[in-house]
Amino acid sequence: MSQTKPVLGIESSCDETAAAVVSASNQVLSSVIHSQIDEHADWGGVVPEVAGRSHLRMIRPVVEQALKEADLKPSDLGGIAVTHRPGLLGSLLIGTTSAKALAFSWDLPLVGVHHIEAHSYAALMPLEKMEFPYITLVVSGGHTSLYKTTDALSMELLGSTRDDAAGEALDKAAKMLGLGYPGGPAIQKAGAQGDPLAFPFKMPLIAPQSLDFSFSGMKTALLYTIKGAGGTTSDPWIVSKDCLPDLCASFESIVARTLARKCRRACEQTGINRVLVGGGVACNTRLREVMAKEAAKAGFSAQFAPPAYCTDNAVMIAGLGGEKLRRGLVSGLDLDVASTG
Ligand code: KG4
Ligand code: ZN
Repeated sequence: MSQTKPVLGIESSCDETAAAVVSASNQVLSSVIHSQIDEHADWGGVVPEVAGRSHLRMIRPVVEQALKEADLKPSDLGGIAVTHRPGLLGSLLIGTTSAKALAFSWDLPLVGVHHIEAHSYAALMPLEKMEFPYITLVVSGGHTSLYKTTDALSMELLGSTRDDAAGEALDKAAKMLGLGYPGGPAIQKAGAQGDPLAFPFKMPLIAPQSLDFSFSGMKTALLYTIKGAGGTTSDPWIVSKDCLPDLCASFESIVARTLARKCRRACEQTGINRVLVGGGVACNTRLREVMAKEAAKAGFSAQFAPPAYCTDNAVMIAGLGGEKLRRGLVSGLDLDVASTG
């Protein structure tokens, strides 16, 4: 019999400890996220060992809270889904080991979920009807990839970043500009009133047909803009600090335009006219606006994951895990973790 009970999802691949319960019709019954941002802020980025220890402390209260908010007992669940790749190994191990222990003691099926497939699924979850195929863009701190998605569980890679991910580029740019971590939201805030055309950064399109991304050159362009050619001037900045909003808006805009242009290319090359966008950078307001314009011009539709489920969360894990369990896909207690996709 097909699995019709709600599924508990657990996510711990990076710096969020999250648990959620999602019904068989993809209704969100609870979603709890403990973000470690404050624990890593002083270091300007995620420290793997700090992340692992924090997951260890938080996983139990977060899971308990998710069940409480859903008003469910373990016996009401149909299974447990957990992120098992890709991510920080120490962090993944805390989530998967906890999920295994709970599945064993509660006598529930366990299913391992791929974090990137789950980011894509977050954009599918609100849809009344999933109409495959889609072009999926996953833009996060660790990934910038385009896929041809023919099913919730079948994603063919069309292109990915050759260096920095889009989120990583925003994080590094924010650091350069003296803004906080994580950089994406900081740049969005600082650039909200800025002129996106003030600094004419070039779109890194690589080659006319390429679906790959490369953001590291833009970082250098930003460095040279504020520090001069070679980026070595001892003077802190060669442009006025008053330019900060314009710098942020211009940098954010070029990232957004590049992402939108590559989606358009992927649609043209595959003949697919529906695009899904997920991952932390999909929260970005400018990206949403730029993508909507590109979509209207080129005749494709763009469906973004809801902002709350763009950054790391367990709703997408429970959702995709439920989809897998309903197809009879179950993992053993020997489920392994992996740092890469
Ligand atoms: O998906 P995610 O939470 O974690 C990974 O799987 O990597 O993505 C985190 C990334 C960070 O680089 C962060 O700066 C970026 O998403 N991000 C944003 C925004 N919110 C988070 N980038 C641009 N605008 C935002 N509002
Ligand atoms: Zn993620």
